[in-house]
Amino acid sequence: MSQAAMVDDLMSPEAIRDPYGYFGRLRLDDPVHWNERHRSWLVTRYADVDACFRDPRLSSDRVVPHYAGQGTGTAAAGEPGDEERGWLQPIRTVLADWMVFQDPPEHTRLRRSVSHAFTPHTVARMEPRIREIVDELLDQVSGREEIDFVRELAFPLPAIVIAELLGVPASDRELFKELSDELSPLVFGELSEPDRHERAGRALLGLADYFRDLMRHYRAQPADNLVSTLVEHYEADGLSEDEVAANCVLLLFAGHETTTNLLACGLLALLEHPHQRGLLQRDPDLAAGAVEEFLRYDGPTKLSVRWVAVDLELAGRTIRTGQRVMLLQATANRDPDVFDRPDELLIDRASNPHLAFGLKTHYCLGAPLARLEARLAVPRALARFPELRPAAAQLQWHPTIMIRGPRALPVHLGPDVRATRVEGAPR
Ligand code: HEM
Repeated sequence: MSQAAMVDDLMSPEAIRDPYGYFGRLRLDDPVHWNERHRSWLVTRYADVDACFRDPRLSSDRVVPHYAGQGTGTAAAGEPGDEERGWLQPIRTVLADWMVFQDPPEHTRLRRSVSHAFTPHTVARMEPRIREIVDELLDQVSGREEIDFVRELAFPLPAIVIAELLGVPASDRELFKELSDELSPLVFGELSEPDRHERAGRALLGLADYFRDLMRHYRAQPADNLVSTLVEHYEADGLSEDEVAANCVLLLFAGHETTTNLLACGLLALLEHPHQRGLLQRDPDLAAGAVEEFLRYDGPTKLSVRWVAVDLELAGRTIRTGQRVMLLQATANRDPDVFDRPDELLIDRASNPHLAFGLKTHYCLGAPLARLEARLAVPRALARFPELRPAAAQLQWHPTIMIRGPRALPVHLGPDVRATRVEGAPR
């Protein structure tokens, strides 16, 4: 098979199962490659991905071109037709307010306001609570022989954390979770039944309405949470109510599935590398470095999308205004020009400048939160269930262009160390 045919379909089973082998070949043979099927440039080398993240000629405003029928920066399902464009219009309005789809100066205004409320200090204060939630989730599975780690821990933990951070009452949690799950195909380009895009759109509008109501609630009764802080400051920061509500949906969404996948892929990587797992179990101080390595080795974001605003040259190729560019963090993070032994998991790497959270203007606002959740959850699960091991020979991966993660991660738990202790075996 020719190289061009091999890299033609980003959704092929091979590309979904092993994006590293699949796109890694491209990094060697054709590092800035035009993919006709997806009508996109694929940029695969670290130096080029890094340069593109920093280049203002590459725009993040991919919502407007998508709905104008020029391409799709979010979904993989092709361009919308006229009828679809009609019902998509209100959805466009919400997505267009997301900071991640804006360029400066609009982006700067939105990000500044949200980052006032969502500071590293706010996140650090969550540590005892996150520890508690992890322990409660582990308590719930104690005594069971086999569990799906995604369902029991990797999925609920970030959902509960982001809901509490935003100020979503526990009684609304189920509705909130349902709506956020429905949204995924629209944003990450998932292969799914056609009506899921329409459902995802309705979920997006439902969530924006939900946050407008929550803003009203906290305006009347201020509390110690992110929505309440935003309500206090947004007018002075020059934001509208719709913009705040839209960016709350973004926080909810961006903070959820990505973190679920970090927890699942992180645990999986350790299960597949017993020596590295042993290092972490013997020395918990390696946890922060281990999380960086999970992000590099098999991180949740395979790629980020940009739209060319001004012609540019890259690796001898001319990239034209109006074309779409996919920045492949997955291959950049395994580039041998930057990382020693790039295809190996080494949790004590001396240097790890991975691009899993992007760079510069749109650098992930939730990076400290995602890091904290992973640093607490994965080592705690292994410390409590030291004999935890995989229970499935083969995994099913989410069939999306942008996101990497298993649909389920079945594991045998083995004995719960804490339960043994409680039963009267002091250690
Ligand atoms: C492991 C988990 C996560 C990964 C891998 C991740 C990855 C990313 C990446 C690659 C971007 C940049 C996108 C671009 O340049 O187009 C981004 C942006 C963003 N992320 Fe995350 N993210 C994670 C967790 C979170 C969490 C927990 C939150 C919030 C609760 C969050 C909120 C955001 C926001 C608001 C942006 C937009 C920033 C901007 O446009 O200025 N993310 N994330």
